[in-house]
Amino acid sequence: MDQAAWATRIRAQMAFEFAREAPPEGFPGLAPIPTGRYTDPAFYALEREHIWRKSWLLVGREEEFEGRGSFKTFQRTGAPLLIIRGSDGVLRGFFNTCQHRGAPVVREACGIARRLQCQYHSWTYDLEGELVGVPDRRDFTDLDESQRNLKPIRCEVYEGWVFVNEDLDAQPLRAWLGPVADEWSVLHGSELRAVGRRQERVPCNWKIAADAFLETYHVKTIHPHSVAKLLDHRGAAMGLFANGHSRMVTPKWEEAVWKPGGGAKPPIEEIEGLDPLFAETNPAYSLFPNLITPLDTIGFPFICFWPVDAETTDIEWIFYGLPPRNDEQEAFWQRYVESFDLVMGEDFMNLAPMHRSVASGALESIPLNYQERRIYHLHEEVDRLIGPERIPEALRVVPRLEPFWETRSEQGAEA
Ligand code: FES
Ligand SMILES: [Fe+2]
Repeated sequence: MDQAAWATRIRAQMAFEFAREAPPEGFPGLAPIPTGRYTDPAFYALEREHIWRKSWLLVGREEEFEGRGSFKTFQRTGAPLLIIRGSDGVLRGFFNTCQHRGAPVVREACGIARRLQCQYHSWTYDLEGELVGVPDRRDFTDLDESQRNLKPIRCEVYEGWVFVNEDLDAQPLRAWLGPVADEWSVLHGSELRAVGRRQERVPCNWKIAADAFLETYHVKTIHPHSVAKLLDHRGAAMGLFANGHSRMVTPKWEEAVWKPGGGAKPPIEEIEGLDPLFAETNPAYSLFPNLITPLDTIGFPFICFWPVDAETTDIEWIFYGLPPRNDEQEAFWQRYVESFDLVMGEDFMNLAPMHRSVASGALESIPLNYQERRIYHLHEEVDRLIGPERIPEALRVVPRLEPFWETRSEQGAEA
């Protein structure tokens, strides 16, 4: 990616956002979002089937799988999944489901396996998922072993981040990421490591949580002493991408930008080679369906929203930075993660009450404004994946935003 050209374009967009007095010419009215989408059990079942089983989802980092047989199990999509490095060094994904009667082939959350032996009747699979051993083989009459290998899922890596997708026909991860992958190419992702981690269970639908991180309209009100001191939401420059992804670059207040001689910098390495725009703004991205990240020059959290059921969400946030080299840097990251708790606490405050409101019928639909259009974009993609014909008309979102996407070809021309 031509980072300077990208930054110039974003700066121009921020200037436009500051100057405008209304949404830009031709921007469509957004139809109110029906709140049944957050509570209806049938809608949730459609999401399970068409989104969580067909999207690329972050399951971890490549360095968690060191050496052959290194594995991790993953349950957050609803299905029991297993990610394992084969004898050939390739990272693969499978359902953690023995093809005899469905017991798991590994029970541990992670570890190193020499082979995968089901703990029910000891069917055995090699590290590539092939069935290689069946006890009392003589007692099966028509068993075709070649049809009883572990069922594969897709597993691909982008800059060290491991994603899986249950849909074998899904487009490749890199293509699905599209312009986001181009723009993140400057982050040195493969050199980063997880340096902190948090999780909280919140009683709300996953989209109530996800929506809350897609706009800065709320910043002045719920983050008056934290984010609002850093960011000037009036200049937020947004980009909508194919596949439901989006970007929002929010400028910092002039006085919040660190300048040489302007106080101590953190005792920690910054990611090398970033355009100054990264220090002057908060570039935040959303990867459909459930990952958002506010980038920073020293590292950043990936915040993921995992539905437990229609009204419960596990929010997990993992910080990535260059590996700390000493105690001072370790201690810095601890403080950084703790200070982020404060902001997350502010963001979480309204989630459960909002869910109770929509569940009570006290709010029938949600009117979104121009600043909140990334939320609308996410909901449009939800409907595209489910297929509007499967969704009762009263719960559908009217497609409006596609003419306002930043197209893939524009991005490609710049890259
Ligand atoms: S269920 Fe795995 S061996 Fe029987
Ligand atoms: Fe917030």
